Amino acid sequence: MNQRVLWSGRFAQGTSDRTLAFTTSLDVDNRMAFYDVVGSLAHVRQLVERDIIDPSSGEAIEAGLKGILSDLWQNKVEWDGALEDVHSNMEFLLTDRVGEVGGRLHTGRSRNDQVATDFRLYLRDAVLDLMELLMALQTTLVCLADEHMDTLMPGFTHMQHAQPVSLGFHMMAHFQRFQRDGDRLMDSFDRINVCPLGSAALAGTTYPLDRHATASMLAFDRPSENAMDAVSDRDFAVEVTFVCALAADHLSSLCEELVMWSGPEFGFVEMSDLYSTGSSIMPQKKNPDVCELVRGRTGSVIGDLTSMLIMLKGLPFAYNRDLQEDKAPVFHAVDTVLSCLDMTRDVLDTMIVDKERMGAVTEDGFINATDLADHLVTLGLPFRKAHEVVGGAVRLAIEKGGCLEELSLDELKGLCDLVGDDVVEVLPVRRCMERRNTYGGTSPESVSLQILEAESCLRKREEFIGKRRDSIALAFKALTG
Ligand code: ARG
Repeated sequence: MNQRVLWSGRFAQGTSDRTLAFTTSLDVDNRMAFYDVVGSLAHVRQLVERDIIDPSSGEAIEAGLKGILSDLWQNKVEWDGALEDVHSNMEFLLTDRVGEVGGRLHTGRSRNDQVATDFRLYLRDAVLDLMELLMALQTTLVCLADEHMDTLMPGFTHMQHAQPVSLGFHMMAHFQRFQRDGDRLMDSFDRINVCPLGSAALAGTTYPLDRHATASMLAFDRPSENAMDAVSDRDFAVEVTFVCALAADHLSSLCEELVMWSGPEFGFVEMSDLYSTGSSIMPQKKNPDVCELVRGRTGSVIGDLTSMLIMLKGLPFAYNRDLQEDKAPVFHAVDTVLSCLDMTRDVLDTMIVDKERMGAVTEDGFINATDLADHLVTLGLPFRKAHEVVGGAVRLAIEKGGCLEELSLDELKGLCDLVGDDVVEVLPVRRCMERRNTYGGTSPESVSLQILEAESCLRKREEFIGKRRDSIALAFKALTG
């Protein structure tokens, strides 16, 4: 049996070592230690302010907590697995330092509101980290778009050549997905940024705590509205995990394309040696393992979301120990997506684009057929009829073993008596890309506009992150001194 025993008054004998080993969460939740101390610093100040504990006890506790903080920074904290979790470890560390007075800290507080507070404090920073790395990846996508708004490539549907686009346009399509992920994180921030402290075990507390004051000391927007909900609510964590899962999906699509594009069948890009790996048997191999792992790890992040949803399903109010299982999947989802964002950006930053090859493959596959049909429409044909006529032209070209541009003017004119000499101007693939000039289209002009708008979105995002980071830093500085 361990010497340090938790809340032993009720028990005739201690909890067994096996139970302690089964129930501990320390290995997972000790990463919230810093937030636990900061939350305690706000709580103890409030206890003193409201005359719930005397100022000298408050000072001793505050000094003890600050000492623990400095040990944390120096990695000197000695954790005790037998003490269940990070919260009780912190309490014991405190009483080890300051003596019995440390026992006054837990007045008007429960681990239930404490853990909910720590988790929110942690996730608030994690969301800003995710937003920052999303932005870094998006910035790379914008740079690529800027560089390649004239780089022709096939746009695909059903993995068949559909219509010509630019690589820049394609990169901006990925940008938009990550932009929405960032928007979702921004939305989630407001729901995370609510303070459960003072909810105590489930019903609030008899001590006259000013919960608004505690909330603002920790840079939360407001205190939570209902104590029973506050100690049980993990919606905010599910939301973040969902955004992680969707961002992982988005990353996996991007990486899947990069895997395909780097193979010889496509040959669109070559990855830097820095982000490729070799084969133990085939000397010629240069494998896109980073992208494959990003794609592969998506599954585990989706698993994290499923774990969270199923853990919460059917839980009665209020706190249940099941809730302890919330942190591992969320931490895993956040860590995984952070590293995937980081690596994917590096892969994109360092890959070499083979513009010639990309352009050359647009010559196969009748990628300009829609434009020929559109041309016939401008001559007066109903689109459905034009579609049929061009279908015939494609068939003719296939029989002759060539593409639409290789049909003679007479052959093209033979398709429909409205066709004139200017039909040849319709067919060059680059023109087909440049002509798609509607808002949101692939023309360089349109992509330039998309880039401008993207840059303004990124600036706003940066401002959002900066403001939040500043107010958190200010509040924490005031607490930690
Ligand atoms: N380690 C616990 C968790 O993460 C802390 C809260 C424990 N509360 C309790 N009533 N057992 O959920």
